[in-house]
Amino acid sequence: MATEPPAVELAGLVESGEVTTKRGTARSAYVEGVRTIVVGAGPREEVDADVMRDVAAAAVAEMHATTGGTLAWRIDADLELSAEEQAGAVVEGAVLGGYDPGAWKTVTREGEDVSKLVLVTDADLGAVVAHAETVAEWANRARDLVNRPPNDLTPATLADYSEQLARDREGLSFESLGPDEMGELGMGALLAVGAGSYNEPRLVVLRWEPPDAARDDVVLGLVGKGLTFDSGGISLKPATNMEDMKGDMAGAAAVVGGMGALVELGIPVRATMVVAAAENMPSGRSMRPGDILTAANGKTIEVTNTDAEGRLVLADALWYAREQGATHVVDFATLTGIMARALGDQYAGILANDDSWRDEIVAAGAASGDYVWPFPLHPRYRKLIDSAFADMKNASLRGVGGPIYATSFLEEFAGEGPWAHIDMAGTGLLNWSRGDYLSQVGGTGWGVRLIVALAERLATT
Ligand code: BES
Ligand code: MN
Ligand code: ZN
Repeated sequence: MATEPPAVELAGLVESGEVTTKRGTARSAYVEGVRTIVVGAGPREEVDADVMRDVAAAAVAEMHATTGGTLAWRIDADLELSAEEQAGAVVEGAVLGGYDPGAWKTVTREGEDVSKLVLVTDADLGAVVAHAETVAEWANRARDLVNRPPNDLTPATLADYSEQLARDREGLSFESLGPDEMGELGMGALLAVGAGSYNEPRLVVLRWEPPDAARDDVVLGLVGKGLTFDSGGISLKPATNMEDMKGDMAGAAAVVGGMGALVELGIPVRATMVVAAAENMPSGRSMRPGDILTAANGKTIEVTNTDAEGRLVLADALWYAREQGATHVVDFATLTGIMARALGDQYAGILANDDSWRDEIVAAGAASGDYVWPFPLHPRYRKLIDSAFADMKNASLRGVGGPIYATSFLEEFAGEGPWAHIDMAGTGLLNWSRGDYLSQVGGTGWGVRLIVALAERLATT
C-alpha cells in the first residue's frame, strides 16, 4: 500500500483526458492494477490547507460513490505544506466532507461507507491526526445541532444537549436558567424575545475548569446566539427561505461544539460558555414594536423591530458571561443578513472593542480554516440607535451600516475587558453548496475550529 504511485502512468492519464488536474475533481482509475482515486489539486505551488481539505473531501466522496472501504493517502514530502499540516487538513477534509445532513430521511443514503483513512508517511503524525479528528467530529456535531429541525431542537432540548455533555466529563459543569431565574436577574431583553413562544427561553451555561489551567488571568467567555427559530416575531419575515432560520442557533452550536472539543482535547484554558436560547415567534404574548425593555445591566431598550432579536438575547448573555467572571469574551451570532451579503459564506465578520484581542481571533481563524474579517467600530455609529424614549433602540431606521450599529448596541452590554463580536450569518448555515469540502447544505460547524485554535493560542501565550 505504501508504494509510490507510478508518476508516468498518472501523467498519461492526465494527457489522455482520463483525469483532470482541475481542483476538487475526482476520478477513479486503475493504475498498474491498483484502484486509484486521482483528484485534481490545481497548481502545486498553490496547494494550501484548504486545497488539501478539498482534495480529501473529493476523494472521500468518490469512494463513497464507488467501492467505499479504506482510503490510503500518501503524505507528500515535497510539498510546501508540512507533513503535520497535510495530515491535519486531510483528516479534516475527510471528516467534514463525509458529513451527511440527511439524518431524517427514511430511505438510507446510497453509497458505500468509507471505513478507514490510512496515512502513508514516515513522520509521526498520531497526535496531529487525533487532534484534527476530534475537532472535525465536534464541528460535525455542531452541524447536527444546526440541522435539527426547530420542532425538535427547542431552547429546552438545546439545554439538554449541554447537560448531557457535562455529565461524566470531569471539570465540565452545567447550569440552565429558565424564565423564573431570568426574571430574578432582570433579564428583560432575553425574556421578551422568548415571550411569544410556547417553547420557553433558556440561558445555558457550561464551565470548563481544566485540572492544570495554564494561566490564572484568563477565563475565555464564549457567548452564542441560540435562536432555535427566528420567524422575526411581530415584525414577521417573508416566507421565502424562512426555514433557514432554524439555523439561527449556529452561534450556539459553535460554542457548544467548541466547548466539547476543548474538554475532549483537555486544553488548559478556563472557559465559560453562555448560550442565549429562545424562539422568536408572533403571538398574543410577543413583544411588540414600541415596547421598552430593561436588560439585566439596567439599560433600557426601545424595540423598533422585533426581528432584531439576536442583539437582545446577547445583551443579557454578555452581561451574564462577565458576571460569571469571563475575562476575554467573544460572541458568535448569525446576527445580520447584511453580513451574509457582504462576506458570503467563506468569511465571518468580526468587530471588537480591543484591537489585539480581535487580531488574536483573526489569527486563530486564519490558522484553523474558519476565516474572519475585521469591520470597524466607531463611537459615531452609536447615534443610529439613539432613541427618543429609552437608552437605545434595537434597530436603526436607516438601512446603512447594519452590522456596525448592531455591534454598537452589543457594546452597551459587553462590560469591561476585551470583547469581540463575530457575525457569522453567512457562514453558519448554507442553503446551497460552497462547492468545497463543505459541500453539504445546512449547518457548517463554523466556529468550532476557530474556538479550539483560539484557546490553544491563549494557553501558550
Ligand atoms: N437571524 C437574522 C439574521 C440572518 C439573516 C441570519 C439571514 C442568517 C441569514 C437576524 O435576527 C435578523 O433578522 N436580522 C435583521 C436585523 C434588522 C431587523 C435590523 C436583518 O438582518 O434583517
Ligand atoms: Mn431576526
Ligand atoms: Zn435572528
